[in-house]
Amino acid sequence: MRASVTVRVPGSTSNLGAGFDCVGVAVGRWLRVTARTARASAGPPVIVERRGSLRALDVPPEADLVYRGFVAACRRAGRPEDAPKPLMLTLESEIPVARGLGSSAAASVAGAVAANALLDLGLDQAALAAVCAELEGHADNVAPAIYGGATLVLPGAGPDRGGREGRGGQGGLVITPLIVHESLALVFAIPDFTVETKRARAVLPPMVPHAQAVAAAAKSAALVHGLAHADAPLLGAALDDVLHVPYRRSLVAGYDEVTGAAREAGAYGATLSGSGPTLVAIAPRERATAIADAMVRAWRGRGIAAESFHVGRPAGGYEAA
Ligand code: HSE
Repeated sequence: MRASVTVRVPGSTSNLGAGFDCVGVAVGRWLRVTARTARASAGPPVIVERRGSLRALDVPPEADLVYRGFVAACRRAGRPEDAPKPLMLTLESEIPVARGLGSSAAASVAGAVAANALLDLGLDQAALAAVCAELEGHADNVAPAIYGGATLVLPGAGPDRGGREGRGGQGGLVITPLIVHESLALVFAIPDFTVETKRARAVLPPMVPHAQAVAAAAKSAALVHGLAHADAPLLGAALDDVLHVPYRRSLVAGYDEVTGAAREAGAYGATLSGSGPTLVAIAPRERATAIADAMVRAWRGRGIAAESFHVGRPAGGYEAA
């Protein structure tokens, strides 16, 4: 067993409109975790120090998703007793919490990756993805946090089809990299309020009419082709989602104004990042700064403070050292 390991895991945006629950993109805002062993003691099993965006997080250390990811990986490797006691975790995050930027997925991935490296568990990326998706519940955020780039997750796709680079078959997940055209930027505006994913899922209807499902399927295909080719009409259609955004937009004050401002400033479209409240626009790179400013201004017009950032190339996946 090593004495310590440091991992960094990217945040992610998911859905991108019509890619609901299946498309995610790694975003270069990072969670850094150092896991260390300490002299064995009869005290608590884990001691957590939180910095950055996690400073105010009020979760008991044993319920922290980083620790739960660590324990889940040990269990998956058949070594549930091997987690050091106490485990010392130092967490430092640039990923805003409960804003739709994959902070929970990053936390569970960081814990699992730290365990894998610290204890030499021998889990491959597909196994890590399966463990974290099961724990955190959102494979569309877990996949880009592990593999980096843009990913498509087919859940429940049947027996193990793993073995190809960038794909995982364990747990029935098939994970495939998606192409993002080099001219595209993702522009994010993050308001100063939160929306818990649990609440954003509770507003979704249990069923949708068949015609709506047909439109959703077409828009989802439009997203994949639109991302690969920077196709303006397809991206516009894809970002105008019919499966989740219509039910969730009322949770995000200013949704219509901010997405409208993004389009007026030259975005192909804009939508919720994950389950919100962060809004993401897809745009030609050269328009990114103007669009970010327009989105923040539109929110300010509603009396809501917001910050923005934009990225070109998607981030890579986790790193461990
Ligand atoms: N796809 C999930 C949702 C992501 O939109 O509910 C949650 O982070």
